[in-house]
Amino acid sequence: MGFPSYNIESIFTIQSLSLILKILILCFLLIGVLSLILEKNSYIIFPLLASAWEVTLGAMTIFNSLSGGFSLSSLTGGLTVTVLGFIACLSLLLLNRHNPRAEASLYYKLFGSESAEYAVELVDLVKKYFIGEIVVPAINGVNLKVKRGEFISIMGPSGCGKSTLLNLIGALDRPTSGKVLIDGVDISTLNPKSLARLRNEKIGFVFQAYNLINRSTVYRNIELPMLVRGVSKNERRRRVMELLEIVGLSDKMYRRPRMLSGGEQQRVAIARAIVNNPSIILADEPTGNLDSKAGRNIIQFMKRLNREFGTTIIIVTHDREVAEMTDRIVYLKDGRIVGEKINEGNVEK
Ligand SMILES: Nc1ncnc2c1ncn2[C@@H]1O[C@H](COP(=O)(O)OP(=O)(O)OP(=O)(O)O)[C@@H](O)[C@H]1O
Ligand SMILES: [Mg+2]
Repeated sequence: MGFPSYNIESIFTIQSLSLILKILILCFLLIGVLSLILEKNSYIIFPLLASAWEVTLGAMTIFNSLSGGFSLSSLTGGLTVTVLGFIACLSLLLLNRHNPRAEASLYYKLFGSESAEYAVELVDLVKKYFIGEIVVPAINGVNLKVKRGEFISIMGPSGCGKSTLLNLIGALDRPTSGKVLIDGVDISTLNPKSLARLRNEKIGFVFQAYNLINRSTVYRNIELPMLVRGVSKNERRRRVMELLEIVGLSDKMYRRPRMLSGGEQQRVAIARAIVNNPSIILADEPTGNLDSKAGRNIIQFMKRLNREFGTTIIIVTHDREVAEMTDRIVYLKDGRIVGEKINEGNVEK
């Protein structure tokens, strides 16, 4: 009598199955390491599954060793696998938390965030400029919290530090001391690549001096942030045409910015700032060169973005009428916040 052949086959099947599983777990973990290096949040699910599987395997081994014949080696083996799997799960989630698109990460989807309430948080912010021996204290200890979906305005006399403050929030400049947190992430901890992505995808900046590219057409200027992000040609065209319509410049899309009026250039700058659907818009005097009707239209449009998409907006303005249209006015003087006013009528309950 020989061995029944099915036994050998089943042993072979189990062995190859477990080998396949091990290879799969290894691949998943490798994808995890790659996803962390490349900062691709969506792939984090693979190593998480692998770690969760490790935990399950470990738990099963512990259960077997306790319920069947007790074996110290399989008990310690099971415990080790469980603990390692658990640590892997936890560290993956925590690492996943620190990136500029934190709110899109699995960590926030699973646990939410204590700091997610604030889109922008400034802690003891100080900025000094050094011109040779002279020190210019532009921002002198600002603490400010801006809720997600809030629309605030900053007012103050010329030279009080408004543009400097926006530049610090938008990661265009580094503070001398203190912290800037965007969606709970301290931006000083981000590497250059994450910072660049934060500026391109999460923040839309409207500069006081527009900063348009004069060699390129209006169309190209608005399209540029999407090119950087790698959006398809058709989608880029659709979006640029939509925004040109909104800012009322469809008939001037092939002009160069210098052939436009100040107000028109300002509208191009606004279209460019919002083309990537940023979650935060920082605008330095977005209505400074517009007549009051055009100015009001732009602010109305921003309000719509704010209400419909929950976009957080911070604008600097000298125009009281514009400021009154926002949820809150923050007053700045000599680089310090000296007061604020909440416009109850505008704040949604
Ligand atoms: N690059 C720089 N080097 C040195 N000092 C600077 C620099 N940029 C700004 N400052 C100084 O810092 C202070 C704040 O400047 P900031 O541009 O933030 O003012 P502001 O409130 O935006 O003024 P405005 O309403 O005129 O635009 C000013 O005293 C200014 O002279
Ligand atoms: Mg300024």
